[in-house]
Amino acid sequence: MIDKIKNFIQRKFFRNAQARWNHQYATGQWDGLKEVVELERQQVIQTFFNQFKPDGSLLEFGCGFGVLPAQVFQSKGYSKYLGIDVSDFVVEKAQSFADKRTFFEVGDMENYVFREKWDAIVLNECIYYAKDIPKLITHCLKNGLKTDGVLIVSSHEFKRSAAIWNDLNQQMTLLDSKIVENERSRWRIAILKPFYPEIQRIKV
Ligand SMILES: C[S@@+](CC[C@H](N)C(=O)[O-])C[C@H]1O[C@@H](n2cnc3c(N)ncnc32)[C@H](O)[C@@H]1O
Repeated sequence: MIDKIKNFIQRKFFRNAQARWNHQYATGQWDGLKEVVELERQQVIQTFFNQFKPDGSLLEFGCGFGVLPAQVFQSKGYSKYLGIDVSDFVVEKAQSFADKRTFFEVGDMENYVFREKWDAIVLNECIYYAKDIPKLITHCLKNGLKTDGVLIVSSHEFKRSAAIWNDLNQQMTLLDSKIVENERSRWRIAILKPFYPEIQRIKV
């Protein structure tokens, strides 16, 4: 009871993202993410990763229940996977899929302190929750991606989508993209690489 009151205060008065997500997960509002209709978009992420970074390292922001490593990759096809989510409730659920190459952590993508650089970072249905999207993209490119690394972004289509893709286009080149549509929603999944203008200048 005390935990419920604390969560309510954090959500309603402090607009705390972790408390909000924990509440939504605990009340089953996101159980649908594990359903078959959600798998096709996740498989596109796997296809792009396999094509551009086979057996590379993969960091996923907004990992939720761990559907991508557990149901799609099935712990194969990457050298290392780290799933990050702001909800400690859902990360605890995802931990059941951890193995010697698959790890999960609680963290906020916008303030995440990268301890290593990755072949691919996936922003999986979470980019639109960032308070400052251009800053999040810069943070990933500058601090989290290897020089030849790629960003994979999955975002359902809604009124802010065009602005989000425009923010990505300011810092990155599109390598490929695919639309997935079914009775539940319409998503765009894209793989992009950074411009890194300073590296281009050296080459010239
Ligand atoms: C719509 S769900 C998508 C979950 C999963 N990627 C999927 O596609 O099934 C969005 C996820 O992003 C997480 N999230 C929201 N804001 C976040 C933040 N600032 N840092 C990390 N994760 C965040 C939520 O907790 C939630 O698990």
